[in-house]
Amino acid sequence: MPSYILNDGYGLSQILPLFIHLYRRAFYMIKRVNFQYTEDITVVNREQFEVHIRLYDGYVNKINEIDGILQNKPGREEANATFSFYRECKRGETFALNGVILHELYFENLGGGGGMNTPNPSVTEQIEMDFGSYALWKEDFVATAKASRGWAILIYDQRSYRLRNISLDSHDLGNIAYSAPILVLDVYEHAYFLQYADKKTEYINRFMEDINWEVVGQRMGIY
Ligand SMILES: [Fe+2]
Repeated sequence: MPSYILNDGYGLSQILPLFIHLYRRAFYMIKRVNFQYTEDITVVNREQFEVHIRLYDGYVNKINEIDGILQNKPGREEANATFSFYRECKRGETFALNGVILHELYFENLGGGGGMNTPNPSVTEQIEMDFGSYALWKEDFVATAKASRGWAILIYDQRSYRLRNISLDSHDLGNIAYSAPILVLDVYEHAYFLQYADKKTEYINRFMEDINWEVVGQRMGIY
């Protein structure tokens, strides 16, 4: 080992992680998923879907913009919980990143209208165990969606080993730590208003007929 590497305690084991970190900072960006409208998607029409995709693209752009700003440590010394630029960056970071993730989960679990709209036995079993029956789960999920301003999500709560229907009023408000999203429904007005206007319940009911249970089953299989 060359002596200069050992000087001051900076050996290869210290330099390599720093090099990898700087490389990742320079080249890592979140890439958009190229979602396409198909005939299997029955809950929304193409126009509503494509408007929504443009909004998703905006979140991808914003999280990359915020990540870029945070790399330069903007105003850490002035960080303040009442108001500061750093606070705005950190609030934007979780809002934009959750916006990306939740939209991807939502678009992925659409399209059951094409023939996959039946939960597999393992999903049904878990739902029955935690809610009593599929009908009772559905009743609660629909009510959760009606009561939410942002998202209704069926999660697997890894702390208490059970499914829950949870309500989020925004991308970064209402998530439960240790929870794994299984089924995601966007109930922001932008998700349906172009097509359904104020008929939110009709949108929710049609979503329930368009769930891609194959995707939901794959997510359940992880936990
Ligand atoms: Fe949305």
